[in-house]
Amino acid sequence: MAKDIKNMPLPEVLPKHIGFIMDGNGRWAKKRHMPRTFGHVEGAKTFEKIVDYCRDIGINCISFYTFSTENWKRSAEEVNSIMNLLRQYIVKARDYFSKETRIVFIGDKSAFSEDLRKQMTDIENDTKDFDKMNLLIAVNYGGRDEIKNAAKAIARKAIAGEINPDDITEDTVADYLYTREFPDVDLLIRPSGELRISNYLIWQCAYAEFYFSDVLWPDFLPEELNKALHAYAGRSRRFGGV
Ligand code: FPP
Repeated sequence: MAKDIKNMPLPEVLPKHIGFIMDGNGRWAKKRHMPRTFGHVEGAKTFEKIVDYCRDIGINCISFYTFSTENWKRSAEEVNSIMNLLRQYIVKARDYFSKETRIVFIGDKSAFSEDLRKQMTDIENDTKDFDKMNLLIAVNYGGRDEIKNAAKAIARKAIAGEINPDDITEDTVADYLYTREFPDVDLLIRPSGELRISNYLIWQCAYAEFYFSDVLWPDFLPEELNKALHAYAGRSRRFGGV
């Protein structure tokens, strides 16, 4: 039976930014003899529950790996099903306006159809002044691609004489990333038993705490997140110090 999530005790220290790698939808569906797309539908429901829970407990920023630069290799049916879930969520997200969540898509949107790009840009504009929580949805996202694009942009500025290469700092690079306005990842969560980062926010995870779980994403409900928050609160973060 589902736990009463409102009564789940929270640790005192909460991460400012939680990154989620939503993995395991395909296996979740396979175990039920259902198509992979069914797993994504259930995964999208879990995504909404986690978004709501994070907002209720006061997390500043959450990000979700929804579609990577490599995910285009999947079947057209699967790619379309993920795109449709995104479209449906953007329409639904308008109900979230009263909940003051800012929505930002991170990744290279140029690969998407014009209407989907417009849907994304519209919701970003319509929520840009909301400050209760920042919800980052990574689409056609790759960490190396992001850093490569930052390097290109900085190189162009240097050639134009607008920046001296000797003055380039880590903050300069961070200013050219999709996440420039948001905190680095404090806690990275990957369910489904895989123990890797898969090119997700690789710059921003430099000092992140990692939490891996065997639970498949559709079953990663707020009570699982609560366990991760307690594990995070028990970690000693030294950022290279002693
Ligand atoms: C990885 O699991 C999951 C994806 C590549 C897609 C995630 C997308 C969703 C949950 C839909 C999101 C929708 C919104 C609205 C944000 P997998 O399919 O690789 O799982 P497997 O490793 O078990 O095959």
